[in-house]
Amino acid sequence: MIVMNDLNGQPSPGDCLARSVPADEPAVEIVWGMLKGLGPLWEGVPSGPGISGVLPPRREIEALYGAAAAEPPLNEDPRFAAIFADVYDVSVRNGQVLMTLTRTQPDGRLSSFAYGHHWKWEEQKYPWAFELQSRLGEASTELESTFALNLLARDPKQRDRGLGRRTLETWIGEVGRFGCWLQTDDIDSPARRLYERLGFTELGHGPEAPNGQPGLVMFRSPR
Ligand SMILES: CC(C)(COP(=O)(O)OP(=O)(O)OC[C@H]1O[C@@H](n2cnc3c(N)ncnc32)[C@H](O)[C@@H]1OP(=O)(O)O)[C@@H](O)C(=O)NCCC(=O)NCCS
Repeated sequence: MIVMNDLNGQPSPGDCLARSVPADEPAVEIVWGMLKGLGPLWEGVPSGPGISGVLPPRREIEALYGAAAAEPPLNEDPRFAAIFADVYDVSVRNGQVLMTLTRTQPDGRLSSFAYGHHWKWEEQKYPWAFELQSRLGEASTELESTFALNLLARDPKQRDRGLGRRTLETWIGEVGRFGCWLQTDDIDSPARRLYERLGFTELGHGPEAPNGQPGLVMFRSPR
């Protein structure tokens, strides 16, 4: 995936959607960062027994996304996980993020997450966003005042339980009355199929994705 940055977003109370959680499945936590970011000293609280309601540290994002994206069909080089984890770190320190996540019980290990932030073009002044806007052309106006989904992953040891899907559904439940969007590799992948099932459609192509091809931008209109 990937939306390469993060600046301040606007606060947005989530929609209240009723969700039934199977008794043996971990609940999906919803964690909003601070409006202006958590600041330069933020390091994150390591996941563990009894930990909830806080954003995990950069290294857990790198480890979990790296393990998930190393699997086929992405087969992503671990350097991308490091880059995306750096973006996460900057995003949390400098602006407001929304993360939904699960932690396995009883050890409390991070097992899935989706995170992103509010998007206004005037706040996106860096090369990746300039390239995105230029490549999308007129379609870029659809992204004004939406939520960007920066990163999604679930632990490959936890596959076939729908954990990633539940995590993303909860994230969308918080922001679904806004539009939301993401950039992903333009290949047939479990992630892309999941996005389509949850109502995202193709908007255009953006900057180069980890597979070296222009990334596919997918958009979900407000509901
Ligand atoms: C994309 C990703 C997060 C999806 O995770 P996921 O939804 O947990 O996917 P899984 O395949 O493990 O599990 C989903 C499947 O579990 C099955 N399942 C079993 N029990 C289930 C339950 N109780 N509820 C829902 N699904 C269940 C379903 O068959 C479902 O597949 P379907 O929706 O096609 O029917 C995951 O594939 C991933 O981390 N990929 C690598 C990283 C990545 O691609 N990130 C996005 C980059 S753009």
